Amino acid sequence: MILTSERWRVRRLPIRGESFADDVRSGLSSPPRSLPAKYLYDALGCALFEAITELPEYYLTRAEREILQRESDAIIGAMDRPDEIVELGGGSGAKTRLILAAALRARGAVQFHAIDIAEATLVEASRAMVNDYPDLTVLGYAGDYEAGLEALRLSGERALALFLGSNIGNLERADAGALMRRIRAALRRGDGLLLGTDLRKDPVVLEAAYDDALGVTAAFERNILARINRELNGDFDLTRFRHVAAYDSASGCVASHLVCLRSQDVRVEALDLDLRIFAGERIHVENSYKYDEAEIDAIAADGGFARTKTWYDAERRFALSLLRAS
Ligand code: AVJ
Repeated sequence: MILTSERWRVRRLPIRGESFADDVRSGLSSPPRSLPAKYLYDALGCALFEAITELPEYYLTRAEREILQRESDAIIGAMDRPDEIVELGGGSGAKTRLILAAALRARGAVQFHAIDIAEATLVEASRAMVNDYPDLTVLGYAGDYEAGLEALRLSGERALALFLGSNIGNLERADAGALMRRIRAALRRGDGLLLGTDLRKDPVVLEAAYDDALGVTAAFERNILARINRELNGDFDLTRFRHVAAYDSASGCVASHLVCLRSQDVRVEALDLDLRIFAGERIHVENSYKYDEAEIDAIAADGGFARTKTWYDAERRFALSLLRAS
C-alpha cells in the first residue's frame, strides 16, 4: 500500500464510492452516454497526454511554462516564501519543478505534497524530484482530488497549493467552485493557491488545440474505450469512433465526444453489459472550460479565496492567478 524511500513516500488512497467498473456501467448504460475524464489517465493515457503537451496546436503547456519560467521567484516572494507546496494533478512534474526550485532557493528546505490519480507517474516523478533536489521531501497521494485533499495534513509554516495546466477546466463551473472550497478547507487562512486557467479565445485556435492534425488528441480520447477493452474485457471497435471537439463560446467550453460512425453491438464482459450503439450516437468524454478574469474571480470568491495577482504569457492565451485563502 505504501511505497517508500527516505525522502519520498507514495500512499495509495482507498477508492471511495464509485470505481472504474461502476462508472463505466452507469455512464454507458443509457444515452446521453458519458465517461468521467479522470479515467483517461492510465499508463498509455499519461503517455499520450505527455505527447499532447508537445503538439504545436496545444499551446497551453508552453504558455504556462513560459509564465512559470519568468515569474516563479516573484510568485514565491508574493507568498512570503512558502515551505510547503501542495499540488493537484501535476503529472510528470516538469512545470512543478520551476516552482519547487524557486521555493528551495528562498527557503532552503521544502516539503512537497503531490496528489495525482496516476500512481506510476506519481512514483516516478517523486523519485526523480528527490534525486534532483537534495533538500526536498515528497509525500505522494495516489488518488483523486477529493481523497487526496482529505488525506492531506499540513505541517509547515506557509503552504502554496498548485492547481495548474487548466486542470480545473475539466469541471463544470459549479463543481469548480466546490473543489475550490475543498482546497480551501485543506489550507489555512493566508495560504495560497496558484491557479492555471486557459483563457477564452478564438474558437478556431481552441478547436485546433483539441483536435490536432496528427490525431494524438483523438487517440488520447479514444484510449478511454481501449481501456474498457483492456481492463473490463470489452470489445469496442475503436475504428468506428471519431473524436470531435467543439467550442461553445456561450459556455466557454470545449466539449470532446466520441461519435459512433457505424452502429455496433458492444459487450463489456466484466460488467456483463451489452450495448447497442447507433451511428451518430455520441459518448461524452471531456469538457475543457475556458475562463475570463471575471470567471476566475467568481470561482475564487466561491471557494473562499481572494485574487492577489494574475500573470499572463506574452500572447495572453493563458493566465496564472495567485489566490489567498481568506
Ligand atoms: C489536462 C485537463 C488540462 O483539458 O486541456 C488535452 C486535457 N484533453 N487535450 C485539457 C486534454 C485533450 C487537458 N487537461
